[in-house]
Amino acid sequence: MIVFKKANELRSYLQHCGQTIGFVPTMGALHAGHTSLITRAKAEGCLAVVSIFVNPTQFNDRNDFLKYPVSLDNDMLLLADAGCDVLFLPSEAEIYPQGHAHIKAYDFGRLEQLLEGAHRPGHFKGVGQVVGRLLEIVQPQRLYMGRKDYQQCLIVEQLLAQMQLQDRITLIKSDTVREPDGLAMSSRNVRLNEPGRALAGLLYQCLVSIQTKKGLAPFRIVQRECMELLKAKGFEPEYVSLATPDDLTELEEYPASEPAVALIAARIGNVRLIDNVYVP
Ligand code: PAJ
Repeated sequence: MIVFKKANELRSYLQHCGQTIGFVPTMGALHAGHTSLITRAKAEGCLAVVSIFVNPTQFNDRNDFLKYPVSLDNDMLLLADAGCDVLFLPSEAEIYPQGHAHIKAYDFGRLEQLLEGAHRPGHFKGVGQVVGRLLEIVQPQRLYMGRKDYQQCLIVEQLLAQMQLQDRITLIKSDTVREPDGLAMSSRNVRLNEPGRALAGLLYQCLVSIQTKKGLAPFRIVQRECMELLKAKGFEPEYVSLATPDDLTELEEYPASEPAVALIAARIGNVRLIDNVYVP
């Protein structure tokens, strides 16, 4: 695994590599969800390029940024094990050479205002900025991202269109990797305390109940049951929603014959978790 810290050095290496570049952007504190993206890029014949950069502009909550877990030594071991070919470890100055204010801000319209956007103002602007900048540097043919961050995948799809890269870069949305109790793997899970961790699988149980009750109960009732159950167990639920898969238009009711996506966000103590499932 070759490590680069300078954008121009990475660029000139990749320019001459002669391989399909599969890019996996991350913020580190890696787990099996991240490595599944690398394994997939390798299985699909790519040179696997991973970036680790905790992007300050996508944290609406300064405390969340300051407490974001960092575990570079362990990350390097996981990456080498997963077959990562190239690791990009930029400083903030490499990503934002003229500061944050000067980097192009994209407008994602209503998609950046709803669900995660409503609860984390500015978050998707920051994601757009950093992913846009990383794509400029890495110039991959394939971009691997996790469905775990469903809305982020749609934002990046829009970003590719706005950057007119949709014909040059294929976005691969990969399935969510879960713990045995169903909890979606996340870098923030290490911040859960023991009772919090013991309860956290409930988010996935709620999503499964939304899936399985389709055709058996109105969504509004299932939604209320989930909110009440989460509150009773000590969570602070932010939303339990059903939406259209393509543009996340919120649905009041299960659609009769179309698929939907169920999405959930809740806090346990000071840890905020999100998850989603497809509702066929
Ligand atoms: P991060 O949370 O580190 O996630 C990096 C990638 O791993 C994202 O595409 C995310 O969806 C995926 N991922 C996370 N948990 C997963 C899981 N349990 N199963 C499958 N994939 C999973 O998302 C970000 O970083 C940042 O916003 C980033 C895109 C790097 C921009 O800063």
